[in-house]
Amino acid sequence: MKNIKDKTALVTGGSKGIGAAVGLQLVKKKIGHLILVARPSKAFKDTIALIEASCGPNQKVTAIRADLADSKRTARIAQSLLADGVNIDILVNNAGFTAPKSIFEASFEELQQTMQVNLYAPFLLIQILLQGGNNFSHIFNIASTAGIKGRAGWATYSSSKAALTAMSEALREELLPLGTRVTCLSPGRCATDLRKVLAPDEDPTQIMQPEHVADVMTTLMGDVGHFIDSENIVVRL
Ligand SMILES: NC(=O)c1ccc[n+]([C@@H]2O[C@H](COP(=O)([O-])OP(=O)(O)OC[C@H]3O[C@@H](n4cnc5c(N)ncnc54)[C@H](OP(=O)(O)O)[C@@H]3O)[C@@H](O)[C@H]2O)c1
Repeated sequence: MKNIKDKTALVTGGSKGIGAAVGLQLVKKKIGHLILVARPSKAFKDTIALIEASCGPNQKVTAIRADLADSKRTARIAQSLLADGVNIDILVNNAGFTAPKSIFEASFEELQQTMQVNLYAPFLLIQILLQGGNNFSHIFNIASTAGIKGRAGWATYSSSKAALTAMSEALREELLPLGTRVTCLSPGRCATDLRKVLAPDEDPTQIMQPEHVADVMTTLMGDVGHFIDSENIVVRL
């Protein structure tokens, strides 16, 4: 089994929120190479600077600026990693999009955008990397409790997360013989920008923080994680 200092982790949605918190914790746990994916923004630039400042001499951080709603661009990320001979040991499919609206108001384009980011991007990254010979040790798919129980106005988001949970279950069984663990993690309410879109009036100090979800994830990545087995791990306060 590889030591964490020899591992490469790719975290999508690494510009802020849960993805940034996971990235920071992985660097603190001495991951050899951390790759973060998000669209270009000041938040992403600041997060990269913060994480780089925590890096030791043998650690590397790479930022990939990309829109995961663009399937061709998503595919190119995986193809470039393969062409560069980079093996992703830990993949965290964390990027998420939501546009909560009633069925009377939601557009088909919003459903497509939600599916592209929340479901198709994880599928493409996993599939293209596997087909290219990538050897994953652990894949995390970040779903949501919204995928377990839908709420009024969340039809597009809830259905994307339910589909991601189901895909994770199928891949969990399929990839086990390859020695790849697939963990589906479903956070409840967590204080991030995405949560603000879903619940604008909520007090963010009273709910779970991104670091709490990151703590659970890095624990699952460690030795003890081998003894924690579930089809869909719910993380909530
Ligand atoms: N917060 C909660 O209460 C909660 C609960 C359950 C599940 N989740 C899930 O947790 C995950 C992380 O979300 P978060 O709560 O940490 O929210 P967040 O802080 O708003 O982060 C969302 C991340 O997804 C990225 N993203 C969104 N659209 C993208 C696109 N088209 N291309 C590339 N990256 C894109 C964002 O990057 P950009 O900088 O490019 O926007 C950002 O890094 C999501 O999958 C979300 O559904 C959150």
